[in-house]
Amino acid sequence: MKIWRWVFVGLVCSAFLLRIDAVELRRRQPTERISGSAGDVLEDDPVGRLKVFVYELPSKYNKKILQKDPRCLTHMFAAEIFMHRFLLSSPVRTLNPEEADWFYTPVYTTCDLTPNGLPLPFKSPRMMRSAIQLISSNWPYWNRTDGADHFFVVPHDFGACFHYQEEKAIERGILPMLQRATLVQTFGQRNHVCLKEGSITIPPYAPPQKMQAHLIPEKTPRSIFVYFRGLFYDVGNDPEGGYYARGARAAVWENFKDNPLFDISTEHPTTYYEDMQRAVFCLCPLGWAPWSPRLVEAVIFGCIPVIIADDIVLPFADAIPWEDIGVFVDEKDVPNLDTILTSIPPEVILRKQRLLANPSMKQAMLFPQPVQSGDAFHQVLNGLARKLPHDTSIYLKPGEKILNWTAGPVGDLKPW
Ligand SMILES: *[C@@H]1O[C@H](CO)[C@@H](O)[C@H](O)[C@H]1NC(C)=O
Ligand SMILES: *[C@@H]1O[C@H](CO)[C@@H](O)[C@H](O)[C@H]1NC(C)=O
Repeated sequence: MKIWRWVFVGLVCSAFLLRIDAVELRRRQPTERISGSAGDVLEDDPVGRLKVFVYELPSKYNKKILQKDPRCLTHMFAAEIFMHRFLLSSPVRTLNPEEADWFYTPVYTTCDLTPNGLPLPFKSPRMMRSAIQLISSNWPYWNRTDGADHFFVVPHDFGACFHYQEEKAIERGILPMLQRATLVQTFGQRNHVCLKEGSITIPPYAPPQKMQAHLIPEKTPRSIFVYFRGLFYDVGNDPEGGYYARGARAAVWENFKDNPLFDISTEHPTTYYEDMQRAVFCLCPLGWAPWSPRLVEAVIFGCIPVIIADDIVLPFADAIPWEDIGVFVDEKDVPNLDTILTSIPPEVILRKQRLLANPSMKQAMLFPQPVQSGDAFHQVLNGLARKLPHDTSIYLKPGEKILNWTAGPVGDLKPW
């Protein structure tokens, strides 16, 4: 067995055979349905399984903020805006809060961008507190559970920790007011203070039209073995490379920059999306935060995601069979990436490609306009529906209070 494995590696590594192999692997396979548990859940219809009440807030919490900076509609945290729009016209919306299973507060805490388009979450905690104060004084539902039947979309780097530097985010922790709420966020890292049990991990927003505009013919050969574009080092803050991406990206570069199987670079070519459709494997190493838009792009373009991010919690992990469609490589094993990837038997690669070709997989990664069944909006609702019914213990006894309204950094207590 072992010998065969090595013979196989040797064969695949020879350039000639690799080319033939790649030709074979590039031919788009017929799609394969995920049978059994996980995959089928993607096609669930949430309508009839939950009712959501959308609080009506003054426009300074949402629309006005967007008017100030329309770039918020296209940045990777835009899910907070699109989720709001989606819920307003969704059949799961109820106008009667008495019959609601879930309460949603439309507050765009991530839409405050630097000139370069990076979100600054410094005002987010005050804004969030202000919105919660408002809903809790104007409606009786927040105080009934201290927020346990409320959900919030917090797509920033470290979710409701509201800071883009990890140490600071950890120091802050999740905003105390959100302690009991369900958080819908891109951040997903096991055993991290910024990931609360019961959170729903979503993909970052990637513009669907833009990606669709770059689709190339399905039969195009996959002639690139491993593809990656992005930073390897944070030259400004961390020239040694041990801190940024926990050194995983630096290790990719140092080990494979001259390896002909690896098409890796920091340059972002105009053919980026097309190149992913010509690649067998697309590296998805962690960066500033563990999640990455690359994962979404890889799934959309049928390139097998190679996930290098120990303890990551991937989007909709209870519905998408990530182990079947992707390859997980431990951060410490990056130096063996070539051996690991060339040792994967062709039939396993073909199966992953067939599963990736399943439209429900791609659909679940996108927040399209107009919405489509099975898209990421629907997956969020499915996730919320799976948490029902609420345990009766979430309802507080008369006079009972769990949240401490003045906990957290003093700066957060200033009015917004
Ligand atoms: C809910 O509790 C907060 C904090 O104790 C209080 O200020 C607010 O008036 C309460 N809301 C209602 C509707 O009673
Ligand atoms: C609430 O938090 C503040 C600030 O951390 C603290 O001083 C206060 O004692 C806490 N109140 C209760 C009732 O725990």
